Amino acid sequence: MLVLGIETSCDETAAAIVRDGKEILSNVIYSQVKTHTPYGGVVPELASREHLLKIRPIVDQAFTDAGVTLDEVDGIAATSGPGLIGSLLVGLTYAKGLSFSTHKPLAAVNHIEGHIYSVSFDHPNVEFPALALVVSGGHTNLFWVESESGDFRHLKYKLVGKTRDDAAGEAYDKVAKLLGLPYPGGPVIDRLAKTGNPDVFPFSIAKISDRSLDFSFSGIKTAVLRLVKENDKLKEDPLRLDLCASFQEAIVNMLWSTTLKAAELLRPRSIMLSGGVAANSRLREVFTERSSEEALKLYYPKPVLTTDNAAMIAAAGTAKLMRGETAGIDVNADPNMRLAVSDRNLSNRRWRI
Ligand code: KG4
Ligand code: ZN
Repeated sequence: MLVLGIETSCDETAAAIVRDGKEILSNVIYSQVKTHTPYGGVVPELASREHLLKIRPIVDQAFTDAGVTLDEVDGIAATSGPGLIGSLLVGLTYAKGLSFSTHKPLAAVNHIEGHIYSVSFDHPNVEFPALALVVSGGHTNLFWVESESGDFRHLKYKLVGKTRDDAAGEAYDKVAKLLGLPYPGGPVIDRLAKTGNPDVFPFSIAKISDRSLDFSFSGIKTAVLRLVKENDKLKEDPLRLDLCASFQEAIVNMLWSTTLKAAELLRPRSIMLSGGVAANSRLREVFTERSSEEALKLYYPKPVLTTDNAAMIAAAGTAKLMRGETAGIDVNADPNMRLAVSDRNLSNRRWRI
C-alpha cells in the first residue's frame, strides 16, 4: 500500500510517500524556523500563511523524490490534531481535496500517534505491551501501548502520565530564550551542554506524589529565571554552558526517573522514545545506558524522524487505512485532540497485566 502523508500541525510543512508503512520513498520537510526566530517562538498566523504557500510545492516535491505519481498512491494521510488550528487546517484541507478529487481513501491521523509510529521504521519488531514516552514541544506523555496484532498494525493506547504544566520541549525553548539563545532552544542547548559542567547548578527534581506518573517542568524553568535575574553573567559563556548542561541533566533525569517508575509498576516488554526532544543526545545516552542496566529494551527513531515529519503520519495512516478506518470529507481538525484518556487503574498499581 502506497500512502502520501501530510503534516502541518505546527511550523513544519512536510510530505512523504511511504510503502506499506515501512519503506520511506520520500520525506520532505520544510521548516519555518527562519520566519519565527525573530519572535522567539512560533507565531500561529505566520505559520498558517507559510503552510499555504508551501503545501503544494512540498507535496509535489515528495512525489518527485519518490518517483511516483498521485495516481499510483492508494491512500492519503494527514494530521488532524493536536496542533495549531490554522496550520492543521492547511494540510488537512489539502489532503481532503486530493482525496475527494481522486476518490482515494483519507486517514485523519493524531500527531502524537504519528510520533509513536516514527519508531516503527527502524524497529518494526518492538515487543508489546510497550511504554511510549512522547516528548515534544507541545507534549510530554507516557502511554501504555498494547497491540492486538502483535505489531504496529493495530495499537491501543492508555495514558499513564502527562505533564502537569510545560512540555519538556517547551521548557527547553523557554530556557533558551531566557539565556538569549535562538529558537528552537532544544538543539542549541543540546549542543552547548556538551561543553558545560552539569554539576555546577544542582536543580532539585520536581517530586510529584509517589502514586502519580506525571511530569512537571515549570519549576526548573522558574529556577533558571531566578538564577539569571540574580546574576547577569549566567547569560554569557562559560557560565551559560554550565547552566545549559545542568538544566539538561535535570530534565533528562526527570524523564528517566518517571519512565523507570512506570516500567517498574507496569512491567512493559519494551520502551519507545519519540517526539522532537527524543533527538536530544544526552537523553538518548542516558536512556540507553540506564535501560540496559535495568534489562529494559529501548527503541527510538533516527534523529530526522524524531522531529516533526510526514513519514510518521503516513505510517500511522497506513495502519488506519489497512484497518478500514477512513475519514469522511466532513472530518475536522481538532487542536486539542487526545490520543488516549488517563487510566487510573494503570497509575494506581491496581493494574494487572
Ligand atoms: O516533535 P516536535 O518537532 O514538534 C512538536 O510536536 O512539538 O518537537 C519540537 C521540540 C522543540 O521544543 C525543540 O526545542 C525540541 O523538540 N528539540 C529538542 C532537540 N531537537 C528538537 N530538544 C532537546 N534536544 C534536541 N536535540
Ligand atoms: Zn511533533
